[in-house]
Amino acid sequence: MASPPFSQDMAAQAEPGDPARRRLIAAGASAALIATGGLLVPAHAAEASAGGEDVSATEDLMREHGVLRRTLIVYAEIAGRLRSKPAEVDGGALVEAARLFRAFGEEYHERSLEERFIFPEVRRAGGGPVRLVEILLAQHQRGREITDYIQATARSGRIGTGDAEPLARALEGMARMYQAHAAWEDTLVFPAWKKTQSADRLKEMAERFEELEHQQFGKDGFDDAVERIGRIEQTLGLADLAHYTAPSPR
Ligand SMILES: [Fe+2]
Ligand SMILES: [Fe+2]
Repeated sequence: MASPPFSQDMAAQAEPGDPARRRLIAAGASAALIATGGLLVPAHAAEASAGGEDVSATEDLMREHGVLRRTLIVYAEIAGRLRSKPAEVDGGALVEAARLFRAFGEEYHERSLEERFIFPEVRRAGGGPVRLVEILLAQHQRGREITDYIQATARSGRIGTGDAEPLARALEGMARMYQAHAAWEDTLVFPAWKKTQSADRLKEMAERFEELEHQQFGKDGFDDAVERIGRIEQTLGLADLAHYTAPSPR
């Protein structure tokens, strides 16, 4: 089906309340973009915030942490295998996990959202969280170094005997650091940011985050990332949640 003649440029030229703009918006109801409160957003993003999925900005950030935490679980499991059966470790699955962490974690969640919107606004607001932001930025940088190292070390698909222990330590170090990183962000930094925002601004940011996600990953960035980590877990025999149920202490 051909898209109706509607574009961001056309709507941007019309004033809010302008009948021409209203006609453009009506014509574009099924097109790629619609206007919400003066802000142009992809139609699917507006649906998500207008009764569909309704994902708030902080929920969005926290569910992204969920994907990253699952990657860290994979890292920790592989670290154990590198010590017990290094020859059996699937380097390809590890590289795929590191690629997911780079694209979804470092390039999108950290660079496009936290470093662009969250951290500068927390810094401007001042107070205790400002010191945390400096540490979080240093941890983003350290994480990128570790991701480079993981990819370089596991690139061939097989882990050399001499690399097994240093790689296991790097994976555990990354998992330890980022578990704390995400937990501090969830409980201190995101709530501090949210307190500085008006209700309208929070809604606008939820739409903006959704828009950026679509720009960077296409239609279903988060869902695709969940599927991607699911496939990695499947390859490694880690897809069953029951695998993690702790043994009885008795
Ligand atoms: Fe972060
Ligand atoms: Fe984060």
